[in-house]
Amino acid sequence: MRVDYRCLIHDLHYKSLHFVIFLSRSRDEEMKKLEKRTPKSKRIYEKAKRDVPFGVHSTYRYSEPYPVYFARAKGTRLWDVDGNEYTDYNMGFGVLASGHAHPAIVKAIKEQAEQGTDFGFEWEDTPKFARLLCDRFAVDQVKLSNTGAEATMYATRFARSYTGRNKIIKFEGCYHGGNETLLVSVKPAKAKEGDPRFPNTVPSSLGVPEGFYKNTLVAPFNDLNAVEEIVQRNRDDIADESGFVLIFDEIKTCGKFYGGMKQYVNVKPDLITLGKAIGGGVPISAVAGKRKIMETIVPGVVSHAGTFNSNPLCVAAGIATLTKVLSRDAMSKAATLSEKLAKGYQDIIQDEGIDAHVSQAGLSGAVAFSSNPVTDWRSFQACDTGKWFAYCFAMTNRGIIPAGPSPDEQWTVSVVHTKQEIEEHLEAFKEVSSYVKKYEKPAEIVEAI
Ligand SMILES: Cc1ncc(COP(=O)(O)O)c(C=O)c1O
Repeated sequence: MRVDYRCLIHDLHYKSLHFVIFLSRSRDEEMKKLEKRTPKSKRIYEKAKRDVPFGVHSTYRYSEPYPVYFARAKGTRLWDVDGNEYTDYNMGFGVLASGHAHPAIVKAIKEQAEQGTDFGFEWEDTPKFARLLCDRFAVDQVKLSNTGAEATMYATRFARSYTGRNKIIKFEGCYHGGNETLLVSVKPAKAKEGDPRFPNTVPSSLGVPEGFYKNTLVAPFNDLNAVEEIVQRNRDDIADESGFVLIFDEIKTCGKFYGGMKQYVNVKPDLITLGKAIGGGVPISAVAGKRKIMETIVPGVVSHAGTFNSNPLCVAAGIATLTKVLSRDAMSKAATLSEKLAKGYQDIIQDEGIDAHVSQAGLSGAVAFSSNPVTDWRSFQACDTGKWFAYCFAMTNRGIIPAGPSPDEQWTVSVVHTKQEIEEHLEAFKEVSSYVKKYEKPAEIVEAI
């Protein structure tokens, strides 16, 4: 088959434009302030984009008019290349639940670097990390990899090889990394999403052929009856008599609750994926779960391989993170601060009469500018994302990165944030709340990620 690249490029160009227009709409006084504070970032961007499309290596880092480039980080603080200091609540999209450059983690990485950064064979301390993961997340066995996308790829592969069935159900509006099986209906457009109870499977990027996603069924979040009906309709393709494999993607939630979401909600999934926070700032991920499934990952039968899997630098960082930093007590204190932050937002929102809702659990929380609480993708679409960007820019200009830089992201209160920082965060929100309340330029939600 001949691919018409002009068509593809046109489409991509259109999508990029769409993206830019989306962000430009929130250009106003706060955007101008940001530009004034970050001239060096602009200069770096002008150079970077010659070699790197859009100047970033993960789409999430692009923003209008240019991405801000950072120089260093420590504890709860980030410094950009212009020397501006920020208190960070994005914390690497939850990776830094331990705080930036935690001394215990830095020490472990330094010490291991002296001993060798990669052996190409197994390292003597890796079993210790595996045991820590099994104990903490109450699973029988574990296999390490590097990124969340890899872990979700392996989890779906292991589930399919175990059941011998092809179909997977994923939830609408949920992101599981760049794994083609799951890169569907992450943010589907209204025109394509279909029936709210039986959503269409909508690819979230060009370049994902139908062959990859035709076996992915999409269910609405928070609607168990709809899930049951989808299972009934596809009984033969999802599982046999022994039932289907339940996977919890805990790439994020493993760092929000000690023991992960599975223990928070007291459910025992067959497999879980772990990532982000377990490495304390370095790339490490895992698939873990019940022995009966994990032990079917037999060499030569089910593939699990990676040059950097269980890299000693990352494993050393992971051991330090789990044994010295993300203790039950430290995470419980961070969760209390996160609760305090949510309560403070709630009070200000109420006092100012802003149409918004706050949700919070464990170390994370989020503000949604909408009349009704967000419970799934369809209710998220009712959010005023223009207001959200106005809020994010205004807070950032006051030295606080309030959450991950997108309306569907959350804040992370790390184990090193303090009560005083939470109070400063809330003071800044109080200061920008009337500006946010009045802000009325809408922003579209972009379909692709
Ligand atoms: C729930 C979830 N799963 C998987 C991923 C993918 O992880 P990574 O970016 O490390 O590939 C993410 C990333 O944000 C995520 O939030």
